[in-house]
Amino acid sequence: MDSAPQTTNPGVTAAWQALIDHRKDIESTTIVDLFSNDPNRVSHLSMEAAGLYLDYSKNRVNTETLVRLKALAEASGLKQAIQDMFSGAAINHTEGRQVLHTALRSTDTAPLIVDGKNIREDISAALTKMEGFVNQVQSGQWLGYSGKPITDVVSVGIGGSYLGPRVAIEALRPFWVDNIRSHFVSNVDGADLAYCVESLNPETTLFIVQSKSFKTQETLANALSAKEWYLSTGGDADNIARHFVAVSSNINLATEFGIDADNIFPMWDWVGGRYSLWSAIGLPIALQVGMANFRELLAGAEDLDNHFRTAPLEANMPVILGLLGVWYHNFLGAHSHVILPYDQSLENLPAHLQQVDMESNGKSINRGGHQVDYGTGPIIWGGAGTNGQHAYHQLLHQGTRWTPADFILPLKTHHAIGEHHAMLTSNCFAQSQALMCGKSFEQAKAELMASGMSEEKAEELAPHKVIPGNRPSNTILMDQVNARTVGALIALYEQKVFVQGVIWDLNSFDQWGVELGKQLSDSILPLLKGEESDSAQVDASTADLVNRFKQANQ
Ligand code: F6P
Repeated sequence: MDSAPQTTNPGVTAAWQALIDHRKDIESTTIVDLFSNDPNRVSHLSMEAAGLYLDYSKNRVNTETLVRLKALAEASGLKQAIQDMFSGAAINHTEGRQVLHTALRSTDTAPLIVDGKNIREDISAALTKMEGFVNQVQSGQWLGYSGKPITDVVSVGIGGSYLGPRVAIEALRPFWVDNIRSHFVSNVDGADLAYCVESLNPETTLFIVQSKSFKTQETLANALSAKEWYLSTGGDADNIARHFVAVSSNINLATEFGIDADNIFPMWDWVGGRYSLWSAIGLPIALQVGMANFRELLAGAEDLDNHFRTAPLEANMPVILGLLGVWYHNFLGAHSHVILPYDQSLENLPAHLQQVDMESNGKSINRGGHQVDYGTGPIIWGGAGTNGQHAYHQLLHQGTRWTPADFILPLKTHHAIGEHHAMLTSNCFAQSQALMCGKSFEQAKAELMASGMSEEKAEELAPHKVIPGNRPSNTILMDQVNARTVGALIALYEQKVFVQGVIWDLNSFDQWGVELGKQLSDSILPLLKGEESDSAQVDASTADLVNRFKQANQ
């Protein structure tokens, strides 16, 4: 661990206090009133960057709120922090690492030195290696053991070595090449692998073992079982290198596993797992949509990075999104944040952003090693619209908890079937409008009476139909879902999370909280197998659960 950095407790800054003082002004008005007071609110509170349009006018903010939020960003040293990240300072101090996933998508050629090496050369070499491999597989020159081309690519990985590639591949379905089908195995639940391989032919299947550390229990277990499946279904042991490649920073463990050293694509310590889809961890993406589209994905993210680096704080999309989140979570009492893509191909985007956000900022110790006394990372959840409208939107509209929402919508569809896209869009716009405007008791009662109900009955039912409104949301539009806009969109959220981490004085790039569960699982596993486990210090409840498992599996 590097020495603890100089830290700023945001809660003791004048800027924080100024926001506390300002709270009553916003609590005494509504978003609808704010619109009435400013006919140009939409043009004041919207912006474009990297092919994305953000309308943040439906938020509980006025000009003064934004001035005060910007002052908080300045007090937290955000501008310097952005510089530090891009220039390769070791901002992940608890692991003594730089944070340079932005370099993976940068076309800048100025040397960027890590441990005495220009990493631009490593990145470029990795892209060239990926390109060569992708071309061989896609063109059918990379043959399986029986001389047939590869038709199915199975990515074996978990967390950041799984979610990002999966989301990008799903989003880019209109750009898939015809002769490759992608599959994912992540869960250590044997069902995941079993269902995946049941329709596959070992002769034409390629496994990519995706693990930065090559130590992750689930990935290693799945990779080993995949190898057993390959061998037990006729796969040729001498040609295993044609069917198993890896992406890892741990060359030794990957070769020990049996991967040919030539078929190991690099990863580096300066790329965090949840920020790794831009590296060779994106190999499955490139195989499915081609290297040109993979480069477009990088280009979209670079566009967003360039905007983030250079735009003033008040006109900076990730900064605005980050500050709005801080406003709601630290000053107005929200606890979660919902991501609502109105696009079926982005269905799993919330799951990826959940990892990006919650593994980065789900922390209660500041960079100096002290307990924080303010809220940090929100609970991130969500799913595709319109499906959620028939499920959790009830709570969004009428629940006792309110949740800031991000609506994400492409203006053009790849699937022009009848009026579907206009219907999808009308639902998306209606939801944010309903959240903001709500429905009063008088409106509800009048509607009921207009439908023929008696006044007495209408008064009885109307309270159930009241929608409080004044619930904030952002709307993010893009022309179409394509590699460039998906790259920009994911980078937008990565940088938003970074902004919040800086304001909350967190190291957003370590993840110590996931370690204890891994350690305990390692000591419980031998108990389940009936072996002695010295390290197991199980409590009475866990001991009973272990016994129940053993009895059921005798
Ligand atoms: O469990 C957390 C984690 O370390 C994530 O941060 C990471 O994305 C995932 O596990 C997978 O790690 P690896 O790529 O080393 O297998």
